[in-house]
Amino acid sequence: MKDYHVVVIGAGGAGLRTAIECARDERVRVAVVSKVYPTRSHTGAAQGGLNAALGNTVPEDNPEVHAFDTIKGSDFLADQDAVQFMCKHAPEVVYELDRWGVPFSRLNDGRIAQRPFGGASFPRTVFSADRTGHVLLHTLFEQALARDNIDFFNEFFLLDLLHDGQRVKGVCLYDIKNGEVVNLRAKAVVLATGGFARIYWQRSTNAIGNTGDGVAVALRNGLPLKDMEFIQFHPTGLAKTGILLSEACRGEGGYLINKLGERFMARYAPEKMELAPRDMVSRAIEYEIREGRGLGEGTSAYVLLDLRHLGEAKIRERLPQVRQLAIDFEGVDPVYDPVPIRPTAHYCMGGVHVENYMTSSTLMEGLYAVGECACVSVHGANRLGGNSLIELLVFGKFCGMSAREYAKQVDFLTLSPGEERKGQELIEGLMKREGREKLAEVRRRMGEITWEKMGIFRDEKSLWEAYQELTELLQRWENIPVVDKSRVFNTNLVELLELRNMLELARAVAYSALHRKESRGGHYREDYQERDDENFLKHSLLWQEGDSLRIEYIPVRITSYQPAERKY
Ligand code: FUM
Repeated sequence: MKDYHVVVIGAGGAGLRTAIECARDERVRVAVVSKVYPTRSHTGAAQGGLNAALGNTVPEDNPEVHAFDTIKGSDFLADQDAVQFMCKHAPEVVYELDRWGVPFSRLNDGRIAQRPFGGASFPRTVFSADRTGHVLLHTLFEQALARDNIDFFNEFFLLDLLHDGQRVKGVCLYDIKNGEVVNLRAKAVVLATGGFARIYWQRSTNAIGNTGDGVAVALRNGLPLKDMEFIQFHPTGLAKTGILLSEACRGEGGYLINKLGERFMARYAPEKMELAPRDMVSRAIEYEIREGRGLGEGTSAYVLLDLRHLGEAKIRERLPQVRQLAIDFEGVDPVYDPVPIRPTAHYCMGGVHVENYMTSSTLMEGLYAVGECACVSVHGANRLGGNSLIELLVFGKFCGMSAREYAKQVDFLTLSPGEERKGQELIEGLMKREGREKLAEVRRRMGEITWEKMGIFRDEKSLWEAYQELTELLQRWENIPVVDKSRVFNTNLVELLELRNMLELARAVAYSALHRKESRGGHYREDYQERDDENFLKHSLLWQEGDSLRIEYIPVRITSYQPAERKY
């Protein structure tokens, strides 16, 4: 067993930015745990950019306009003080990345370029062509590697938290490389495991590994999850696979057209058109398909993303990855032909309830959550494109400071013999398990339920069925054996653990969505089509007690802007 001041679970943008900040004090020993090699973390898949009011293209832009756009985009469910904090600190973390070596795209005069993105009043999104997440992740990893007081635990899977009910003591991990269970004692633990949009197994922009491990572990350990009903569907997933085609396509001037060749967004958001927020654009696409103006049939239906008028030179310079993805996965070169697209599950606005946005602390002493696995809440019911990378940088920095200072003040807690054996017993139990269920079948069914019954459109019946069927799948999970008995890279065992996490989170989404009887942001109820501020201008908090779930609500913090109808 090893001891660390701070253990960070996850080596994507949130985890790395947090670890770097913790390690600023050389006396603080930091462990970063990741189930994949850090540069394979999902932050690397982010394409279009991050929002900060630098005012480089439009001098009138400022953090308060950024905050207002974010709050309006959130359908007024974001906590306004937290949003203002994020937008105020956004420029400083971008310049910090610039100094660390992120190769941002530039204006002719050498300043950082900014492109338009959905729901924003001005071009505010800082970018590096369409590989922003990739360069950001690599730069953060370099910075973390340069610090001697950070140790990496690569290809270790989070099994559980160790705690006394009040305060965290450490974590127990499964070493994927050799099958050993390792306990790390820690004064502070930071969950930074990313989102869980892979619960939409068949159609998602997310990496296969985005299974919400930290979120599910928090839920099982008695911590509440906030606003789980709000899932973001990105408008432009490739039709056949759901792979992301960046919002930058529309930011750079791309059109969405239906089978009649109409720019149909004129019907839904006449001012912002294709650059309306994602919840609205995704629903608009689905309405076009429903009303017979899409192409293809049934689940293979789609509309078109037209980039041809941008010209080859601009597509090469600004959207090279988009072009290659369209060629490789759809067989279409956007320079010459419009690309078939349809919405795809992309982002989870909900996550581990963060109590204090300035520290990212949770309800358990010494436990923090940051990035997509956390719900601060700065995105409310709908996140604006470009606000995810900036969230993880700003809150990663401040979370790192808080965890570091906290860890310097407290002592380690002793692990009981039961806690020391906890992970080993879990793994031994799973390896011995017998049963006739098949992992792939249960996971495939989960994907069908999430997409069909708790997708872009939902209602009481579909959500109730989803909740019941997911509960049954959780029971079936108990009878899935580990067929591969080896200890080295046992992906069968890891996938089994991931599936439990996804099933629990999918059920949490269904349950939270069932109880929110209104439509707001990414949560659209066909049986309650209006936003209902009188009854639902509040965050949901979901708790798991034994096998059952319980919902409570807490107020939204409104500091500056009274809720109004969203028009774009
Ligand atoms: O469309 C994109 O490039 C994704 C950006 C985001 O989700 O923030």
